[in-house]
Amino acid sequence: MGLSVVILAAGKGTRMKSSLPKVLHKLANKPLVEHVYDTAMGLGADEVVVVYGHGGEQLKESCSHFKAKWVEQKEQLGTGHAVQQVFDDINLQNTLLVLYGDVPLTRLETLQALLKGADDKIALLSVNLENPFGYGRILRNEQGEVCGIVEQKDATDEQLKIQEVNTGILAAKGSTLKNLLENINNNNSQGEYYLTDIFELAAKDNIAITTSQPAHCYEVEGVNNRLQLACLERIYQRNIADQLMLDGVALADPDRLDVRGQVEIGHDVFIDVNVILEGNVKIAAGTQIGPNCVISDSVIGENVVIRANCVLENVQVDNRVEIGPFARLRPETHLHDGSKVGNFVEIKKSEIGEGSKVNHLSYIGDTEMGKNVNVGAGTITCNYDGAFKHKTVIKDNVFVGSDTQLVAPVTVEANTTIGAGTTLTKDTETDVLVISRAPQKTITGWQRPKK
Ligand code: UD1
Ligand code: CA
Repeated sequence: MGLSVVILAAGKGTRMKSSLPKVLHKLANKPLVEHVYDTAMGLGADEVVVVYGHGGEQLKESCSHFKAKWVEQKEQLGTGHAVQQVFDDINLQNTLLVLYGDVPLTRLETLQALLKGADDKIALLSVNLENPFGYGRILRNEQGEVCGIVEQKDATDEQLKIQEVNTGILAAKGSTLKNLLENINNNNSQGEYYLTDIFELAAKDNIAITTSQPAHCYEVEGVNNRLQLACLERIYQRNIADQLMLDGVALADPDRLDVRGQVEIGHDVFIDVNVILEGNVKIAAGTQIGPNCVISDSVIGENVVIRANCVLENVQVDNRVEIGPFARLRPETHLHDGSKVGNFVEIKKSEIGEGSKVNHLSYIGDTEMGKNVNVGAGTITCNYDGAFKHKTVIKDNVFVGSDTQLVAPVTVEANTTIGAGTTLTKDTETDVLVISRAPQKTITGWQRPKK
């Protein structure tokens, strides 16, 4: 049987106290609803329908890459009414799985187990809670079979004692759900069409109901306010950290690493505290990342040392490179094997060749640097004339004296030595010393001005 997934996301999210629709709030820098969408895709869904109410345009724009149908629920008349909106848009022969745009951390394994029961039954995900307050309670008959769900507000004192509650997540054949939902009404304390009413109807029609439970409570926890969002973020992050450690990564403190994307990290990598990894990041074996580094969309080689407080964005770092502390590496920078970038250095869109060093206080932009180049402190590539960017080429074994400005476009040939304080405006030749420096004058008997 094929699989259709409906994601309910029509709620207003008042308690977020935000102008952003609730399901667009981010967990690990990804909208809540996208976590749910990715889960649906992970299950191999043939079709996904998102039921939205508030902020529809904003939602569709933020999620424009979803391969999903968008169905508006104009008035929020209840969860049953929300599911009713999708029957024109799905294959009723498929299994229909109901997920929620504000419940982001349900594991694939949990849903796969649930779906196994949904072939010929209604499969319900329930959970036992110490404190079931607020949830719909699962009613069972003497045989222990589910015979209904009663909402908190409609429950008797006796029913309120039941600790097995409805997570809201369920699956059944589309046509079965459609038929059952045709018979629900809103005669209840909230005047809503409850999705949960289908269970009593199914029991009466002798449609079998099966339940399964998630391994962890967080899998079925929803986000209603920013506090709950922050709690789920910590759980998500800790799960990633735990997995990384089990995979052979050393973390100074698993509670002080944040991963906001996809990472691939090799054995014996050490990550110090307060590191943020964003987007797609690969770090090969034996590399060390110092505290307070932010690394996004980058590939880092083996046995690299990145010291404290470095920011890397869209950078390629080869093996045995040393970086920082306090280095800023901007997009399209490529540091080749054994190169070194020291403190207070900014590099943008440049190749730093094998064994080359830019150790102190420099700006290198739009530069192609060869091997074994030594760039002295305070060197600046003047790559921008106010309108256009120009390229600097520095060939192998060049020595750039401190406080040099390389006014691009300019080429420094191999083995050139540039004297400190030079403003280089012309291409050089190989094996020469170039220097542009006003001759030193001495004025003897100089009197300082006095007040
Ligand atoms: C629902 C269940 C309850 C369960 C609980 C788990 C019903 C009647 N009750 O209660 O048994 O224990 O979830 O959290 O289903 N939504 C829409 N359109 C609507 C109404 C709701 O899209 O018209 C969406 C909301 O955005 C939300 C979800 O459905 O994501 C649940 O709705 P909510 O009103 O919060 O249901 P609960 O009262 O919590
Ligand atoms: Ca709720």
